[in-house]
Amino acid sequence: MGRTNLFLLLCVIMALLGVCLVKAEDAYKYYTWTVTYGTRSPLAIPQQVILINGQFPGPRLDVVTNDNIILNLVNKLDEPFLLTWNGIKQRKNSWQDGVLGTNCPIPPNSNYTYKFQAKDQIGTYTYFPSTQFHKASGGFGALNIYHRSVISIPYANPDDDFTLLIGDWYNTHHKKLRQTLDSGRSLAFPDGLLINGQAHTTFNGDQGKTYMFRISNVGLSTSINFRIQGHNLKLVEVEGSHTIQNLYESLDVHVGQSLAVLVTLNQPPKDYYIVASTRFTKKVLTTTAVLHYTNSASPASGPLPPPPAYQYHWSLKQARTLRWNLTANAARPNPQGSFHYGRITPTKTIVLANSAPLINGKLRYAVNKVSYVNPDTPLKLADFFNIPGIFSVDSIQSLPSNSGPSTIATSVVPSSLHDFIEVIFQNDETTMQSWHLDGYDFWVVGYGKGQWTPAKRRTYNLVDALTRHTAQVYPESWTSILVSLDNKGMWNMRSAIWERQYLGQQLYLKVWTAQNSYTSEYDIPKNVLLCGKALGHHP
Ligand SMILES: *[C@@H]1O[C@H](CO)[C@@H](O)[C@H](O)[C@H]1NC(C)=O
Ligand SMILES: *[C@@H]1O[C@H](CO)[C@@H](O)[C@H](O)[C@H]1NC(C)=O
Repeated sequence: MGRTNLFLLLCVIMALLGVCLVKAEDAYKYYTWTVTYGTRSPLAIPQQVILINGQFPGPRLDVVTNDNIILNLVNKLDEPFLLTWNGIKQRKNSWQDGVLGTNCPIPPNSNYTYKFQAKDQIGTYTYFPSTQFHKASGGFGALNIYHRSVISIPYANPDDDFTLLIGDWYNTHHKKLRQTLDSGRSLAFPDGLLINGQAHTTFNGDQGKTYMFRISNVGLSTSINFRIQGHNLKLVEVEGSHTIQNLYESLDVHVGQSLAVLVTLNQPPKDYYIVASTRFTKKVLTTTAVLHYTNSASPASGPLPPPPAYQYHWSLKQARTLRWNLTANAARPNPQGSFHYGRITPTKTIVLANSAPLINGKLRYAVNKVSYVNPDTPLKLADFFNIPGIFSVDSIQSLPSNSGPSTIATSVVPSSLHDFIEVIFQNDETTMQSWHLDGYDFWVVGYGKGQWTPAKRRTYNLVDALTRHTAQVYPESWTSILVSLDNKGMWNMRSAIWERQYLGQQLYLKVWTAQNSYTSEYDIPKNVLLCGKALGHHP
């Protein structure tokens, strides 16, 4: 019997036992990644950064829908380390999510092998370190999921595709930035903006051909605007949603978000500036890369294409033009729109208001007046081993309250598998927000100014809103999302703005059923790392 047949037989037997994790036809991809420090000069000043296999940013992870990823991560830093896979849904598998609520961090000189599947996803994603403010020193990278050959995508295959990881950057070491935050102060404005870890990158293309640019905001705090001199951007994908293919002169990308555009090299043969600049900041940081026509006769020359209007309203209006293409395929060969999300009545509404209180004289960030702290034991393990006293399920209320002081807690919002919830991110502050949910994508159905009220539901897009994993919230505004809670597990909901996440603007959503079967969640991994009060327990 061939290996595949043997595997199939095993799979059938295991399926009867209810533990078949993966289908035989889905490929396995093996990686070993070693995390070290190294010296780079992204802003012309040498500084210590975090490398993966010697690379800054980390290696680009190119996989195909449904691939199984077996990735052994070896930590050679002097601090515990953990990577999270931003936008990978980890179906039934929050064990592999790589945040402190689900995983113990990997101790120095030690390793952990992640095992997860890029199940039913196509699109542009990223990974990054989730703990210790490591993200400020690197360790992030691109995670691109390509379509299977049997699935058509709603655009011609581009001639090549380029990945652009764009983000604000500090010349300061993450340990120093962490000290500032730990002492209860906010970080200063970033020192610069990088594209793929550099201030100068060149992308080469042939005149007449069409290229995909996959753009992710991997920064810590700042929204960016992206544009290419002399060229239109045709938007085709946002975090796994195939969009209506509008043309844009420039696009706003908020912290933690990703999108993909097609660019046709239909201009006279020369070099053109690719520009990213910070949005809504008093001082504007700008960085450029170059789009080089292979038959180019002259270097890129100014002026740079100007940024859009500063006004939030411009950005909000653009956000409303991002729509789902209801007739395009998703990762599976069914129309994306076959699930009529707009006709389902939510089982629960949760309004989450962010704030920046002083607690014991120190700056913290909070959700409905509760500022999150990480316990020494991951919530997921505490739940699995029945270890009491690790988290509280009643600290965060479904509605913000105006009375009482802000407190510190390890807050978990309980919910039932198959609930369909409405979450409103209410931003009463004057700064931009960006909210991310692990384990899911969600429909972003509405954006509006001021206070959300139930009457605002009349303005929702209940027909062709995008699904994505990270939604921006404009200052003194709200953003509404709908989430179908079909993925059991312990899922992090957090600010993608990294100092806010670090100082408490996050919580966990426990999606739960009493039925403890493998059909709704995988078993604890054999190689699970234990820490805190989970030490000494046996998986
Ligand atoms: C560490 O790596 C070894 C192989 O080098 C592997 O066998 C082991 O399972 C890994 N440890 C964990 C906790 O995944
Ligand atoms: C939506 O997808 C379909 C199917 O691939 C495609 O033919 C169509 O052009 C797309 N529509 C828009 C408006 O982008």
